[in-house]
Amino acid sequence: MKTLFLNKDETLKAAEILKSGGLVAIPTETVYGLAANAFDEKAIKQIFTVKGRPSDNPLIVHISAVEEVYDIVSDFTFNAQRLAQKFWPGPLTMILRKKDNIPSIVSAGLLSVAVRFPAHKVAQKIIRQTGVPLVAPSANLSGKPSPTKFNHVVNDLNGKIDAILDGGDCSVGLESTVVSFEGGIVKILRPGAISFDDLKSTVKNVEIDKSVYEKLDVGSKVISPGTKYKHYSPDADVFAVNGTSEKYAEFVNSKKAVGVYALCFDEDIPFLKMPYISYGGMGNFNQQAHNLFDALRKFDKLKAKVIYAHFTQTDGMAMAVYNRLIRAAGFKIINI
Ligand code: TXA
Ligand code: MG
Repeated sequence: MKTLFLNKDETLKAAEILKSGGLVAIPTETVYGLAANAFDEKAIKQIFTVKGRPSDNPLIVHISAVEEVYDIVSDFTFNAQRLAQKFWPGPLTMILRKKDNIPSIVSAGLLSVAVRFPAHKVAQKIIRQTGVPLVAPSANLSGKPSPTKFNHVVNDLNGKIDAILDGGDCSVGLESTVVSFEGGIVKILRPGAISFDDLKSTVKNVEIDKSVYEKLDVGSKVISPGTKYKHYSPDADVFAVNGTSEKYAEFVNSKKAVGVYALCFDEDIPFLKMPYISYGGMGNFNQQAHNLFDALRKFDKLKAKVIYAHFTQTDGMAMAVYNRLIRAAGFKIINI
């Protein structure tokens, strides 16, 4: 299949393709999404095939105005309304009880549906012009780091989908925060740019699901199926390494060999005697979020065999970055 490359002004063309059952990769403020009409089962099936996505991993439905939530959700709870008021449009996805019109392929058979109103103007325009909500998982091959640049999408999906719309680099760089509302508790299933503290400032009971920090046992019951799969993995073997700049550098310098790289902070650079890519300042979590997936993809290009990724913090603003890092590392964590 020939994949059409569209520029940011060609949203009508994107909408036309989506209306006729095609797949279009579109920019959002978090990561690029692989969009299809949320009511078109045939197109959605194609998303699972193209990505190589397990069929039990449900999709997020994207809307372009808060009121549209009522078309797809049967219970827009009080807490959900408060969060929507504060954080929509933006990088927050809410799991709510679905209406029957949402095909079960979208929710992977669950009674719930994940809903997000993205802040990206181009994404909003495409949804509006298509005239229906759009499902959009991250536009990467399953298991690979999510795409934050047009070229990332081209690398993964060129020749496999109808079109890719170039909206430049995604500002956030990590996928949206996903929350559920079971039992009156706002539970973070996937951390993102909307942090625990952001949520806590708006609603009373906020909890972090244990899957955010821990590897789930095989066969254990999960609320968010996406949390159980291997994710964000470059081809190399990744280790997450915790320590000061000096200790981290001392450790990785001792591992120096062909194909071994450091994924470091700017502050580490003076101490390193081996090839590295920095993903930002040590305390600059927004910058780290913005750069992480691009850095992981760069290591693939370099044919890296082993990557030692530096981290120092796991909670607060660092939670989303740390969550992706330990998944890329397959939970191999080294404390020095
Ligand atoms: O920022 C984002 O959320 C991006 C952009 C494109 O909007 N999308 C994205 O989609 O990250 P995806 O499919 O890569 O991740 C969706 C996550 C998965 O972990 C999935 O299991 C979870 O949301 N999810 C979707 N529907 C769910 C549901 N009904 N119940 C629980 N978890 C759900
Ligand atoms: Mg994804």
